[in-house]
Amino acid sequence: MDKLIINGRSKISGSINVHGSKNAALPIIVSSLLSDKILKLSNVPNVVDVLNLIKLLKNYGVKILHNKDIVHINSKKIKNLSADYDVVRKMRASILILGPLLSRFGRARISLPGGCAIGTRPIDIHLSGLSKLGVNFEIQNGFVVGSVKSQLIGNKIKLPFPSVGATENILMASVLAKGETKISNAAREPEIEDLSNCLIKMGAKIEGHGSKNIYVQGVTNLKTARHQIISDRIVAGTYIIAALILNSSLEIKNFNTTYLKSLINVLKKMGANLKVSKFSIKVLKGPKLKSTSILTNPYPGFPTDLQAQLMTLMCLSDGKSKIKETIFENRFMHVPELNRLGAKIIVEKDTAIILGNQTFKGAQVMASDLRASISLVLAAMNANGQTTLNRVYHLDRGYENIEKTLGSLGVKIKRKKN
Ligand code: EPZ
Repeated sequence: MDKLIINGRSKISGSINVHGSKNAALPIIVSSLLSDKILKLSNVPNVVDVLNLIKLLKNYGVKILHNKDIVHINSKKIKNLSADYDVVRKMRASILILGPLLSRFGRARISLPGGCAIGTRPIDIHLSGLSKLGVNFEIQNGFVVGSVKSQLIGNKIKLPFPSVGATENILMASVLAKGETKISNAAREPEIEDLSNCLIKMGAKIEGHGSKNIYVQGVTNLKTARHQIISDRIVAGTYIIAALILNSSLEIKNFNTTYLKSLINVLKKMGANLKVSKFSIKVLKGPKLKSTSILTNPYPGFPTDLQAQLMTLMCLSDGKSKIKETIFENRFMHVPELNRLGAKIIVEKDTAIILGNQTFKGAQVMASDLRASISLVLAAMNANGQTTLNRVYHLDRGYENIEKTLGSLGVKIKRKKN
């Protein structure tokens, strides 16, 4: 397994163009299963989760052309409607194939995802929403088997929690259902809006996407479409925090800054010196940041996917900070590793208490999940001495060429292939 070797006290400068959003690309690539026409995508991020999803769809007989950020998908011929445990275990987003397959073919079989490092991550909201459209589910030796008598029928579905994946699954399933579907308490993430905008280009009839009530009028077929994936707001937020951790000036470009309003508000409250334009943010050097307290929330609240990165910054701020994690039950896996790097963080149930004014010292650390691992890289860039980060595959799932990107900004970082 690859390792990253990082020598700290880096100074970074320059600018970075944010790549396409993993969490928009995954559902959009899956949505091609709804159609027998070509879907042409651009700005697709070159990250492992996307590569694995493309491999999965090719196993279904889907024709895919993939060249850098360009992905052309033709799902006219599909030969298999089942996803096995080792695929779903590695990438939870494969659950999203349920909606399109059930909507187009009336059946699908997928391994139950199992948990992951950040929580049990059940799929009950997905299954109960799809059942309301007329799917009959059975659990057969670790697999979920869905079948539809004739055609999915539109319905009113109220989500108990604005689950991103469940909203996407139900939304895609309703595109070819008969009649109208209303999804209330829907997730409002920008990635849901981007998926909806792509489906509309394919001929779907959707309104209200990005709000908590989404309305879908079923259609009978879809057409060829082109779509550019939005940029990755979590990657953008990560690099903004990186510049603040190193008190360096950095310009983060090519993303819609309105998608990061909650992060920008928190950082400004901490005293960060930010120049915010519509599609770029300039981080400027400034005084030591102040502590603060936040809780994670569904969009437009503070994103859980930036919680670990902000925690690293809070270790260096002045005073005691607090983070309450309300989305996942076990998303503090980075805490013991940050403490190994010299942080002083205590976890009490769903709240982390972070002492500020710490200094990081290089050490051997272990990545556990995608966002936890990047918080360790951020700390390592600030640390005195050398840090070795093990299990780098977690990082590769969501960040393109992380060592090339950081190296180009001035970070002393290299990958040791094992
Ligand atoms: C998406 O995961 C993202 N992944 C996650 O990003 C992100 O952290 C999460 O949304 C929250 O914003 C992708 O888009 C591929 P949820 P998802 O369904 O859809 C519970 C990353 O780092 N829940 O909104 O799985 C669930 O256990 C990843 O890029 C149920 O109880 O998130 C969790 O506690 C990590 N039953 C909460 O809801 C269900 O049926 C939020 O989950 C579904 C979810």
